Amino acid sequence: MTPRSPRPANGTEGATWMRVGRRYLAPLLVHRFPPEVPFGFLGRILPPNADVDLRIEAHRIPAARALELVHGARAVAEAELVAGRGGSTTAELEVERSAAEELGRAVAERTQELWRVGLRFAASGSSPTRSEGERFRLGERLAALGFRTRIPRYEAKDALAPTGLLATEPRPSGFWQTLSTDGLASLFPFVDESLLEPAGVLVGLALANASPVFLDRWSHASYSWGIFGTTGAGKSFAASLIVLRTRWLRPETEVFVLDPLGEYGGLVQTLGGTVVRLADRGAGRLNPLDPESTGGDRREKAGRVGAMLRALFPSLKDEEAAALDTAVSRLYAREDRTPTFDDLVDEVGRLAPAPGRLGAFLEVFRSGSLSATNGPTTLRPETRTVGFDLSGVPDDQLPFHLAYVLDWAYGRLRSHPGPKLVLVDEAHLLARNEPTAEFLDRVVRHMRHFDAGLLLVTQNPDDFLARPSGRSLLRNLYATAFFRLPEVSPETRSFFALGTAEAEWLPKARLPREAGYSESLWRIGEWHLPLAVVASTPEYEFLGSTLGTRPPAANGGRLPFEGEVYTAGAGPSRPWTTEQRPTAPRGDDRAGA
Ligand SMILES: Nc1ncnc2c1ncn2[C@@H]1O[C@H](COP(=O)(O)OP(=O)(O)O)[C@@H](O)[C@H]1O
Ligand SMILES: [Mg+2]
Repeated sequence: MTPRSPRPANGTEGATWMRVGRRYLAPLLVHRFPPEVPFGFLGRILPPNADVDLRIEAHRIPAARALELVHGARAVAEAELVAGRGGSTTAELEVERSAAEELGRAVAERTQELWRVGLRFAASGSSPTRSEGERFRLGERLAALGFRTRIPRYEAKDALAPTGLLATEPRPSGFWQTLSTDGLASLFPFVDESLLEPAGVLVGLALANASPVFLDRWSHASYSWGIFGTTGAGKSFAASLIVLRTRWLRPETEVFVLDPLGEYGGLVQTLGGTVVRLADRGAGRLNPLDPESTGGDRREKAGRVGAMLRALFPSLKDEEAAALDTAVSRLYAREDRTPTFDDLVDEVGRLAPAPGRLGAFLEVFRSGSLSATNGPTTLRPETRTVGFDLSGVPDDQLPFHLAYVLDWAYGRLRSHPGPKLVLVDEAHLLARNEPTAEFLDRVVRHMRHFDAGLLLVTQNPDDFLARPSGRSLLRNLYATAFFRLPEVSPETRSFFALGTAEAEWLPKARLPREAGYSESLWRIGEWHLPLAVVASTPEYEFLGSTLGTRPPAANGGRLPFEGEVYTAGAGPSRPWTTEQRPTAPRGDDRAGA
């Protein structure tokens, strides 16, 4: 399925306005930006008494195309400098040329990017005259700051049409502008610059004042994030939203989803990816023993195979585990071929003394429920998105399957450069035993070198805090989001430096089924921010249809903007800092709302 096309705007249309319900909307487009804008200029343009709606749409221009554009602009300025341009002084052209040159350098170094930006104001009134009057005053305020504006004549409907996901809907000419990252950032009216990483994805809206928080995964030392919370708290939904938004910003991002509950199939398919159902014998095989995943490094592969087998047979006694390790290293010491489980069973058979219950354990690969994994690799998904659906896999085999799929994904990560995201849901399954927890920790420590980040989704941080490898992993997550937790253990509190109010609030954080969105506490670097994770209507429809979810019933499926949630004074006036925390982001009276 492709994203649904936006609803056609209904209502009657005049030459320069459109009627929607009882209101008349008069659109205004920005046709040229001034060379500079004062910080926070939108506040002056949109005073509280003005009945004006502003919509900003931004699409990143791929780096190669951006460079072409900047070089083109510079060439034009240079040519005009030589030929002389009517009305412009040499000094002005000189400034234009050096600005284009500087931008070119910044784009090449990727400190700036170019964006295709659509900025649309709509003045509203109870009659065409009123809305046009409102628009006239808006136009004057914009002109005072040096903006040149345009009224879309006979194009009001196209100007006002809702935003689709792909920006393919018809728009009036001159609708789109090209802006640098700084230019785009100047359009954001929000107070705290540290919450705004313009090349980032929207992670949520501050519960304090609804200002959006954008995070750029790729601009920090670790690209990995964690999401924690009880079942039903909205973790998988939030993870899907992050994947979706990441793909909009960087369509080249490869996404691998390890999906123990089989929830992400729709999303993966909608993104044009491949879903592999591991419980389905016809799905094709990843041979867990194939050293391709370690780029042919057989010693490293032997270590990982040891880890996945221990996850499968947690009851191995020390001497059995030692015998298995010996068999595995012998298997990989022979350089000639890609082993299968048949070869491993033979290798174990050659061991003396007799290896206890090992032979019996390994029978599961020959005649038991794991025989589908015994044989050469037949599955080579080439798509940019691959989901591994583990639903239907017996519980005691989940860590084993997760471990070799992670090993395979890790092989894909390091095989070529470019942004990649690995989503591991129900990650506690890997934290349960030491070897797989260690492997996951190693993956997180090294994946940045391959331009990759992990999205770790799990219920309780305590599962990871119990082991040194788990703690190491948690330290390597740049951002951690806590959704509702039934309780916050002293270990979690001290590891994440959560304050008393935060720890007391998390068990009361509102669930999506109560609120229609989810409440969460994000720990981003040194910041602790209570955020609402909210999907826009097109996102919600998109995810709702792919995740097989229904609109939450409690508030009739309303989005928070339409409800009572963000009225002034509903929460503390600023985000929490370590020094100053409110008792709760919102009053306790809301807990059962
Ligand atoms: N931010 C949100 N906005 C609207 N609905 C949501 C949101 N987060 C979760 N939901 C809905 O709540 C239900 C539980 O969410 P889910 O992400 O599966 O929880 P978890 O993974 O934490 O168990 C799903 O039906 C989902 O569609
Ligand atoms: Mg989930």
